[in-house]
Amino acid sequence: MSLHRLRSITIGVPSVDAVCAFYRDFGLAETRPGHFETADGGEQLCIAAAPHRALLELSVGVDDADDLGRATAALAKLGIEAQRDARSLRAVEPITGVRALLRVEPRVAQKPPTRIPINAPGEAQRVDARSPAVLAAPSKPRRLSHAVIGSADAPASKRFFVEGLGFRVSDEVPAFGASFLRCSTDHHNLLVQPGAVSFLHHTAWEMDDVDAVGRAAAAMLATDPSRHVWGLGRHGIGSNYFWYLRDPAGNFAEYSSDLDVIADDEAWKVAASTAAHPLAAWGPPVPGAFRAPLDIVAVAQGR
Ligand SMILES: [Fe+2]
Repeated sequence: MSLHRLRSITIGVPSVDAVCAFYRDFGLAETRPGHFETADGGEQLCIAAAPHRALLELSVGVDDADDLGRATAALAKLGIEAQRDARSLRAVEPITGVRALLRVEPRVAQKPPTRIPINAPGEAQRVDARSPAVLAAPSKPRRLSHAVIGSADAPASKRFFVEGLGFRVSDEVPAFGASFLRCSTDHHNLLVQPGAVSFLHHTAWEMDDVDAVGRAAAAMLATDPSRHVWGLGRHGIGSNYFWYLRDPAGNFAEYSSDLDVIADDEAWKVAASTAAHPLAAWGPPVPGAFRAPLDIVAVAQGR
């Protein structure tokens, strides 16, 4: 696969200072005003001023200049012009206006976390000791996992990312018109779903494990319980544990762990639907505001 990672995103918001404070609390490190680093992924989030909340830019790492050439030609077939230099390609997704940037860069190798010993029926890995999970402090997001956008023409947006840039389709949910797309071995790095207007639904950030998801979300809610949106649960597609919070601009931010990994395109079976609930295999009832964020009318009106 020539695309190898979701490198970074830029989110536009009207209230930059408040949103930056949220992502500092969330566990991202602000290296300079408005720019945030994860533990493993480098600088992966930029918060920029904008009239209303939106995903402004999405950046993807590729292996070499040949990958840029293939994407340039594929975009041209879709009638989309790309700006090229030796190490990058820029193009604008015509429906949502999201700026896409492909950039040649090295792959990132993550160091695995220290495994917590788990007790299970017939298998006690931890005896005469409390679990480290109840003693640990909240940990930091390891890297950016995925972004989810609503598009007023989801099939056209999907075409841009799949046929144009080279994203792969991991799963689809016809009932919602949603496509789970990847630019790495992660089950999804981008989900495109229909929306009355184009909007950013959420971003997701990889944590070590489900305990890390729970600890980090609990710490966020201890500071401000109104940040809670939905969780703890486990998604039916992608298999990841999730807990969603809301930033001050209205974007959802997800702590996520144990996402499916697709290393062999032939071995993975793309499912048009799954037996599990498409949104959650288990978890609290899905809040209506998760399916249809309450501020979409305001976003549509540019407020
Ligand atoms: Fe997600």
